[in-house]
Amino acid sequence: MVSLRRELTADPVRLIAALLLALTATAATLALPLFVQEVVTDLMGGRAPRAHAALMCAAASVGALAQALSGFLLARIGERLAYRIRVRIMDHSLRLTLGVVKARGTGELAARITSDALLLRQVVDVATQLPLAALTVAATLVVMVWIDWVLTLVTVGALALLTLLVLLVLRQMKENVGKQQNAVGRIAQRFTADLDALTTIKAHRAEAATAEALAADAERLRTISLEGARLAALIPAALSLGNQLAMIAVILTGGARLAAGDLGIAAFTAFLLYLLQTIPYVSTLATGSGRLQAGLAARDRCNELLSLPPETDARESHRTAPAALPDAPAVMFRSVSYTHPGARDAALRAVSFATARTGLTAVVGPSGAGKTTVLALIDRFVRPASGSVRVLGHDTADWPLDALRARIAYVDQRFTLLEATARENLQLGRSRPATDPELDAALEAVGLAQDITRLPQGLDTLLGRESDLSGGQRQRMALARALLSDADIVLLDEPTSQLDGLNEERLRAVIADLAASRAVIVVAHRLSTVRDARHVIMMNAGTVLDAADHDTLLHRCAPYRALVASQTTKPPPAPPAAHPALRDNDSAHVGP
Ligand SMILES: Nc1ncnc2c1ncn2[C@@H]1O[C@H](COP(=O)(O)OP(=O)(O)OP(=O)(O)O)[C@@H](O)[C@H]1O
Ligand SMILES: [Mg+2]
Repeated sequence: MVSLRRELTADPVRLIAALLLALTATAATLALPLFVQEVVTDLMGGRAPRAHAALMCAAASVGALAQALSGFLLARIGERLAYRIRVRIMDHSLRLTLGVVKARGTGELAARITSDALLLRQVVDVATQLPLAALTVAATLVVMVWIDWVLTLVTVGALALLTLLVLLVLRQMKENVGKQQNAVGRIAQRFTADLDALTTIKAHRAEAATAEALAADAERLRTISLEGARLAALIPAALSLGNQLAMIAVILTGGARLAAGDLGIAAFTAFLLYLLQTIPYVSTLATGSGRLQAGLAARDRCNELLSLPPETDARESHRTAPAALPDAPAVMFRSVSYTHPGARDAALRAVSFATARTGLTAVVGPSGAGKTTVLALIDRFVRPASGSVRVLGHDTADWPLDALRARIAYVDQRFTLLEATARENLQLGRSRPATDPELDAALEAVGLAQDITRLPQGLDTLLGRESDLSGGQRQRMALARALLSDADIVLLDEPTSQLDGLNEERLRAVIADLAASRAVIVVAHRLSTVRDARHVIMMNAGTVLDAADHDTLLHRCAPYRALVASQTTKPPPAPPAAHPALRDNDSAHVGP
């Protein structure tokens, strides 16, 4: 959890130094008029004001230097605070479950390290302003008591009323800042999601409609911010009301006491001067508290995020990984059911199957059958609602998550690349860096060697922005990554059509190569992949219809036969009649 007090006092030496320096700067500023007065007196008296002029210059320089140093120290403390909070939030966000991150949204999470971190950063400046102002007000009050305690009591009464008013406004302001930050998060979320979908937006000429939705979010933020501005405007009003009240009360009481002879005119004048002098510090206290409230609202939002449970707790990472059982299947599902959060129907219902330690298993079935969900359960992105998922002989819940995922290489349906160099992308998840010959061999195996060499900086080209890869190239990069991993199990979520005929042949070879020494589970859409599989699991609507080899299934499973038949329909003979997309698709599939 983020504790502002702990964060601010994490470096007490610097904080105290900054406070003392600020105090010195204030003292020097206050002393300067005194020295000026002395210099003028010297000059009027015909004396050379050497000593006093030197003191005057010294006070001015010391004041300026102390102010600069204090500002720098505070900035340092503030930047450190923002850095620590950003790092913690980013680290924690990466450790949340995929479902939670998706539900929250990337833009919303990113807002915590931008606008919330900035609000928290500002609290540091207040950390010296508030104590200094409080100190000055307290010291002045002591002097005031010494001059006349009755008038001081009246002043304190008026200031207490003012404080009450300001506190009421501040409470509302904190709530408003929370709402503002939520609105900023929402708008950032929608904007990032829209930018991610920009190709689709442009292709559907939806720029105007999308911009309109974004403008509606911006309008909501404007309305909330305006309410905040209204509240903020109340503070100077409350301040001036309180000050007038104090002044009137003091003049009335003072006047009465003056008339009764309980108070001298000199003391009354001095008291009034002190009262005037305190007013700016009271204002600083009020506005500083306003900024503190904004910081507290940002802290609450950060804490709310940090309190979301991570995917794995600290105890788990300290557990030792179980040893893989030699005779156990690579993966075994026993009556596994699972429903996605928010979904009405179960994605999987009583799914059972087992796969051998080496060799290729193909998972087939219509779209929405639950194939990707099966892979997600193996890698423990989600946990089964009932039943058990065993990997190398142990329930996935019994594996420390890190150790479990070190055993598995997962190639997702979108072949995601990180915004990193080709080299870093290839080595993701490896415990030791791969040598250049190892990288070259993997790239050669998937037929990517030339494509990568042609990139501006070869293997060290940053992928994802200017230098992106095509869909098929991404797929082959992801496969090369799996080849380079030392995982026992490879999960491959194959999309329908990313590869041309030549590369499809290569893919078969790579998968065969992988399957020679590991368990490869492929969500397969191509018959070529299915035919090579030793074991085919036919799924439909969240259940396993049948599981056997290709020929057996073809013989005894009617839905499988239908699936195969749907992929082997010959294209119409005349080229002009063929839909280009269908033609491409069919050429990628090899008949049974
Ligand atoms: N994050 C999610 N939230 C809610 N429902 C989901 C989610 N992901 C998948 N589902 C639902 O779960 C069911 C199984 O989805 P899954 O992604 O496993 O299908 P699939 O067999 O991989 O399909 P495809 O071949 O189209 O990739 C589907 O009905 C889908 O709508
Ligand atoms: Mg899928």
